[in-house]
Amino acid sequence: MRQPLIVANWKMSKGLEEAKDYVRRFPGEVTGVSGIEMVVCAPFIALAVLSKMVQQTPLVLGAQNMYWEREGAFTGEISPLMLREVGVRYVIVGHSERRNLFGESDSLIAKKVASALEYGLAPILCVGEDLRQREAGQTKEVLQRQFFAALERLENEQPGRLVVAYEPVWAIGTGKAASAEDAASAAGFVRSLLKEIGSAAAQKTRVLYGGSVNADNIGDFTSCEDIDGALVGGSSLKEKEFAAIVRSVYEERRG
Ligand code: 13P
Repeated sequence: MRQPLIVANWKMSKGLEEAKDYVRRFPGEVTGVSGIEMVVCAPFIALAVLSKMVQQTPLVLGAQNMYWEREGAFTGEISPLMLREVGVRYVIVGHSERRNLFGESDSLIAKKVASALEYGLAPILCVGEDLRQREAGQTKEVLQRQFFAALERLENEQPGRLVVAYEPVWAIGTGKAASAEDAASAAGFVRSLLKEIGSAAAQKTRVLYGGSVNADNIGDFTSCEDIDGALVGGSSLKEKEFAAIVRSVYEERRG
């Protein structure tokens, strides 16, 4: 059984004080919930402070990006070792906003995935088609290309603690989530790609859905066999809303 994983991606929202308030208030919203991993991917400036605060909470800390080298002359970048030092366990890699707004290529993403794994972080690799690709019927082709390109540098074909998030670009921040059928089909396809790496990888790697997830629609996704949780943007910004998503998954899994 894969443990459900619900990840908040705050993106470029929340300064330090707001982030601290959230982490202070969140545990009270999920009392009694167990067996679900809850991750908050906060802006870099909040990570060191939050890492101490989350120790007393069910939250685990994630980052939204990283560079692949351990240190050196890379002005403005943050290394995997720096993230480890402040207690970060997960890192989002290849988010469509980074691909599209910051020009991150498949080969650069591959370096980040390999580096995250090497330094003991769990990369949350985002893959997903844009609207034009979807309308052209290219969804699987895009997923396959992004998936294998990102894992190209994996040594011994070991995906380690890799997580894959299917995030169709057209569903991000639009209020138009994918249908459960489309999300299930894409997640199933991602799992079939994982099988090509190995049966252990396919069995243990968690596949998330992301794109306009909220407390009302989360169950549509997590009730699908191949979807193990969600990567949540807008609806993760208020602790009550994010907690409602977590509680919904908890109730569903409890049966
Ligand atoms: P929204 O939940 O706001 O659509 O964002 C999804 C996302 O990009 C999470 O990484």
